Amino acid sequence: MSSTILVSGGAGFIGSHVARALLERGDTVRVLDDLSTGKRENLAAVAGHIDFHVGDVRDQARLAILCRGADAVVHLAAIASVTASFERPAEVEGVNVGGTLAVMTAARRYGVRRVVFASSCAVYGEPLVVPVSEEQLPVPGSPYAVSKLAGEGYLRVLGAAAGERRGDAPHTVALRFFNVYGPRQDAGSEYSGVIARFVAAARAGEPLTVFGDGLQTRDFVYVADVARAVLLALGTTAGVGRAVNVGSGVQTTLLDLAAAVCGASGVPLRVVHEPPRQGEIRRSAADTRLACELLGYRPTVPLVEGVAATVAWQAESV
Ligand SMILES: NC(=O)c1ccc[n+]([C@@H]2O[C@H](COP(=O)([O-])OP(=O)(O)OC[C@H]3O[C@@H](n4cnc5c(N)ncnc54)[C@H](O)[C@@H]3O)[C@@H](O)[C@H]2O)c1
Repeated sequence: MSSTILVSGGAGFIGSHVARALLERGDTVRVLDDLSTGKRENLAAVAGHIDFHVGDVRDQARLAILCRGADAVVHLAAIASVTASFERPAEVEGVNVGGTLAVMTAARRYGVRRVVFASSCAVYGEPLVVPVSEEQLPVPGSPYAVSKLAGEGYLRVLGAAAGERRGDAPHTVALRFFNVYGPRQDAGSEYSGVIARFVAAARAGEPLTVFGDGLQTRDFVYVADVARAVLLALGTTAGVGRAVNVGSGVQTTLLDLAAAVCGASGVPLRVVHEPPRQGEIRRSAADTRLACELLGYRPTVPLVEGVAATVAWQAESV
């Protein structure tokens, strides 16, 4: 049966993939986005099929209109920047925590049954053990990470617990996305913008800039896998009140990533090293067993394939 889903931040990178995946399966999609980093072009191909609203996710009057009759909210709207969160912590707190609180308030008021929230691997800080499981204690290392952990907390305390309906409280789940990449990602993204920047440098025939020795690792997860995880989370109450990792489960060094990008771009590998960036974590990868158990999620797109798709998209979009 088709559902009506509100996607906050739906004009952003991940949001545009989620919105399209929902449309493809026959859902009715409403988008609320203030276009601060999102772009109308991200939804251009499906513009006529989406109920698109430009506005702030903290606007209760707007949320009232959009949550009435909605079955679920996928809450992605946020300032997704660690740097911005150090420069303007109050603003990031206002949008990220205030936005989540506003969504939860409206969802409860208008009987929305499900809220899926974009949390982040940033909540872990530097993981003690890699791959990192949800059992590791979060030690957020930035105001951004604190805002995501706070969002998770509001979902838990304002949502319904597993197996119960608390008044009109929705069932909630927080998905801790790792380093998401793919078509439509802005090169400025601090998560996986490195892929977009590598692809652009390889296209221009320039060497790829790596900060530090390039042996730091990340879990790069292709955006279509992330969109699928969101759809799976919408379709089950198994993870209610929980926070669940969504990654590829694979640790990739930046040097291996550089090699994959150059391979997909058909250019020889050339790297220049810059001094390491302060405060950067050394190793990261998701333990995805809980996502598999609760949501039935399995990453399907290997890095070489995802990088090739990203290279092809950049070539087409220029
Ligand atoms: N990209 C990643 O690797 C990654 C990893 C972990 C978590 N996340 C989270 O996933 C979500 C989506 O990230 P993304 O990479 O697509 O970033 P993005 O910047 O492309 O998307 C965020 C969207 O939210 C919108 N937005 C921002 N403030 C708003 C406000 N006050 N009101 C309404 N809309 C607002 C922006 O215009 C944008 O379209 C974010 O919550 C981010 O924190 C992303």
